[in-house]
Amino acid sequence: IASIAKELKGALKQFPNFPSEGVLFEDFLPIFAQPESFQKLVKAFQLHIGETKVDYVVGLESRGFLFGPTLALALNAGFIPVRKPGKLPGPTICAEFQKEYGSDKFEIQQGVIPKGSKVVIVDDILATGGSAFAAGELVNKSEAEILEYLFVMELDFLHGRDKLGKPVFTLLSGQTEKLGA
Ligand code: PRP
Ligand code: MG
Repeated sequence: IASIAKELKGALKQFPNFPSEGVLFEDFLPIFAQPESFQKLVKAFQLHIGETKVDYVVGLESRGFLFGPTLALALNAGFIPVRKPGKLPGPTICAEFQKEYGSDKFEIQQGVIPKGSKVVIVDDILATGGSAFAAGELVNKSEAEILEYLFVMELDFLHGRDKLGKPVFTLLSGQTEKLGA
């Protein structure tokens, strides 16, 4: 896993001062443009999961959708999208969370995660942990079990993982940071 992580770090593209002044944005989209690196990304998560039986991969809109379904297939698990509000038909379960400006909501369809199933929650970046925590609430409300949270990157200095109360695995840990921090 460490050697794959090292290679993938090399594929990241840095954008200083995006989305705002003083922030170094680490773009992980180049990973998906190369089938070899995309395969390695999925492989690394798969190796991390090992023999543990995962029933569902729960992916967060939008960037958790880039590799969540692919990882789900590799794990022989189902994929369940957590969506922004008003997008899903039928009865939904909702969780609110704080964003930089105001609050936001996430939804899943009611009954889509069977009680007692074992899930992993995936997203691209763990920042404050607000989004991931809300997704976790949706899984908890479904009375399913969160095995772990999986991210490609993490903004360590925001301590989002302390909020989650379950194991957190970040493939390219500590890669993204504020300029000059
Ligand atoms: C970004 C990122 C994570 C979230 C992390 O998503 O993709 O989902 O923020 O932040 P947090 O840990 O502080 O909650 P964003 O809301 O920008 O939307 P997108 O995935 O649709 O681009
Ligand atoms: Mg996101």
